[in-house]
Formats: sequence, C-alpha cells, structure tokens
Amino acid sequence: MSEKGFVIWFTGLSGSGKSALGDALHKEISNSGKKCERLDGDVVRNIFPETGFAKDDRNTHIKKMGFIASLLEKNGIIVVASFISPYKESRGFVRELCSRFIEVYLSTPLETCEKRDVKGLYRRAREGEIESFTGISAPFETPMFPEIVIDTTDETVDQSLERIMQYLKERGFLIDESS
Ligand code: ADX
Repeated sequence: MSEKGFVIWFTGLSGSGKSALGDALHKEISNSGKKCERLDGDVVRNIFPETGFAKDDRNTHIKKMGFIASLLEKNGIIVVASFISPYKESRGFVRELCSRFIEVYLSTPLETCEKRDVKGLYRRAREGEIESFTGISAPFETPMFPEIVIDTTDETVDQSLERIMQYLKERGFLIDESS
C-alpha cells in the first residue's frame, strides 16, 4: 500500500516546545522508514532573514509554508511543521490547503515560556529591543479547534511525543507495522 502524506502543524508561543517536539516527532517517524520532512520557523527565517514580524508578513510567510507543506503531502510525504503561526487567518488558510491536517496547539503559558527564555528574546522584548514580539507586544490568537493540545510546563518531550504518536496511530495516520 502506498504511503499517504499528512501535515502535522505545531502552533504556539516562542519557547512553548514546538521545535523540540517537532524534531523528536520527525526523528521518530523517519526512523520507522517513512518519508518525513521538517519545516521550522527558525530554520526558514535563517534562510530568509528578510521575513518580517508584522501581521501581514507573518500571514504571508505562514501561507507560503502551508502551500509547500500541501505539495509535499500530496506526494506522500509526512510534514512536521512548527511555526508560532499566531494568526487565525493564515492557520485557517493552511488547514484548507492541506488534505489531512493535524493542528497541535502548544498551550504552554507565557509565564513558562518567559521563565525558560532559552534564546533571551523575552528579556529583550520586555526591554523594548525587539518589536512585535508574540505574547508581549504582538498577539497570539488561540486556536479554536486544535486536534491536540499540549502544555509542556510539566510534561517531558517523551511524554508529549507518546501522546502524539498514540493519536496518529489511533486515527490511522500512522500504521503500526510491528503489530
Ligand atoms: S511566525 O509568527 O511567523 O510563525 P516563526 O515561527 O516563523 O514565527 O518564527 C519565530 C521565531 O523567530 C521565534 O522562535 C524567535 O526565535 C524569532 N523571533 C524574532 N523576533 C520575533 C518576534 N518579534 N516575535 C516572535 N518571534 C520572533
């Protein structure tokens, strides 16, 4: 049977756990021999540093990433995408473009993300050095109907990964070939 692609899309604040979880999921799926591609906000923005953070810039960026995800999906590739993707408009656009779309909302609260401040960006945003910072000086529009919600405050990457894998297997996105 030929593999069917799908798109699993992580959305949430900076520092909420999107990239760590996306990387872990990508590794898990790739290790099982399936074709899996990764799209991550920081990686894409390193290649295209001119991409802005104003609402229009982010919506355009997310729509383009969603279009690429939909093309990969059409070709039987599993796409693990992680972007803050704070606006309903572009998240909805991506959901419509993709056929099998799973939205994972990283609901880790701002307090936790800011306490972690892995990249030191929250401090810089608080000090006014970074404009339009999501959660501080730019909004994050909470997803209305995400397929999965994960708060990484008290959950390890392995525990979250386990929950996602269970969802994907139960819903038939991943066929467990070992059973
Ligand atoms: S999105 O809002 O357009 O979806 P994306 O996921 O691509 O964002 O990139 C977010 C990353 O850009 C953050 O993890 C952070 O490292 C960096 N960043 C730099 N400036 C900002 C800002 N103003 N708001 C949010 N993230 C920022």
